Amino acid sequence: SLAVAGSMAAVLELIAGSYEQIAFGYRIKTDETEWTAKADFTHHAHTASISAVAASERFVVTGSKDETIQLYDMKKRTEHGALLHHDGSITCLEFYGSSNLLSGAEDGLLCVWSTKKWECLKSIKAHKGHVTSLSIHPSGKLALSVGTDKTLRTWNLINGRSAFIKNIKQNAHIVKWSPDGDKYVAVANDTMSIYNLETASVTGTVTNPKRISSIKFLSNSIVAVAGDDEIVRLCDIETQKWVCEFKAHETRVKAVDSFHMEDYCVVVTASNDGFIKMWKLHLKEELEPPTLLGEVNTTARLTCLAVWKPSSVQQTAEEPAAEATTSEEVARELSKTKRVRISAEEVVLEDESKPKKKKKGGGK
Ligand SMILES: *[C@@H]1O[C@H](CO)[C@@H](O)[C@H](O)[C@H]1NC(C)=O
Ligand SMILES: *[C@@H]1O[C@H](CO)[C@@H](O)[C@H](O)[C@H]1NC(C)=O
Repeated sequence: SLAVAGSMAAVLELIAGSYEQIAFGYRIKTDETEWTAKADFTHHAHTASISAVAASERFVVTGSKDETIQLYDMKKRTEHGALLHHDGSITCLEFYGSSNLLSGAEDGLLCVWSTKKWECLKSIKAHKGHVTSLSIHPSGKLALSVGTDKTLRTWNLINGRSAFIKNIKQNAHIVKWSPDGDKYVAVANDTMSIYNLETASVTGTVTNPKRISSIKFLSNSIVAVAGDDEIVRLCDIETQKWVCEFKAHETRVKAVDSFHMEDYCVVVTASNDGFIKMWKLHLKEELEPPTLLGEVNTTARLTCLAVWKPSSVQQTAEEPAAEATTSEEVARELSKTKRVRISAEEVVLEDESKPKKKKKGGGK
């Protein structure tokens, strides 16, 4: 039945992946003081644990140690087949706009998928070793990736080519752009290194008491950090200080995500203890620990999490942009939408990498 006009309930669903191979979807009722989560779907398409999940306006994708990416159509509420291209555990998935998906895996490949026909448009040998994490710039024109070859790589998504390689001291397992796209964070074990895009150099590091499992930018400066314990910590990356912490779960927090309501932020956490929890946080000068809005016991050991909130899906530029092949051109392309610039001094230009075309795989 339709919601009564006047109540501004958001269409919102939380999607979690688990060791038990199952993806769960919970519809959230937000128009009450205590939010409730109602089981909406379970998707058991994988034959090994789920390692990554992402949601676009229309689709939920899950990646697994079984080397497949499974699709779920949120509009038709049905399974939508599998993407069989990688020869290794899927480690990261991210949509850009509603037209493309990027996947990374332990085979070292980054794949660009079209969401229209679910074709693999480009398959890039991105890292020697595994691809561990990727992040798409808010402009949709650049992506970062990290892998087990101690490099941080920048990709031009307009032509699928490697723009720059940066050698880092350790293997990073998480990389993430800030919402404004003027900085990014790379995580190696328990340490976050903050990079400034303009100078391409580290502006600070912050160390968590435990290995970091997941991070989420709540604003351009506040990052929620989940680690191998039950605490979620909030870090101000401008001052490189921990500004707030709260006990979120009984055991390790495996994933953290967030979304914005009208005047507050909702932090969502998923844990090995089986629970998904929603926390209400007011983003103000002096941060106070968030209050619990609602929770659900999935009874599975959760590994990853995504928020499906179709009204807030960012539309990135879909108009064909100019083919930028040099760092200066990439920077110029980016600065058309965002006032950011990439320094060419700190980075190494790579020209060995050419987009490879593979015939294998594709949607079914
Ligand atoms: C990772 O961080 C944890 C917690 O700080 C530490 O005990 C461990 O030795 C670190 N591991 C490596 C490989 O640096
Ligand atoms: C979560 O559900 C499982 C399975 O029904 C149950 O064994 C467990 O006690 C529940 N956890 C809590 C804290 O209620």
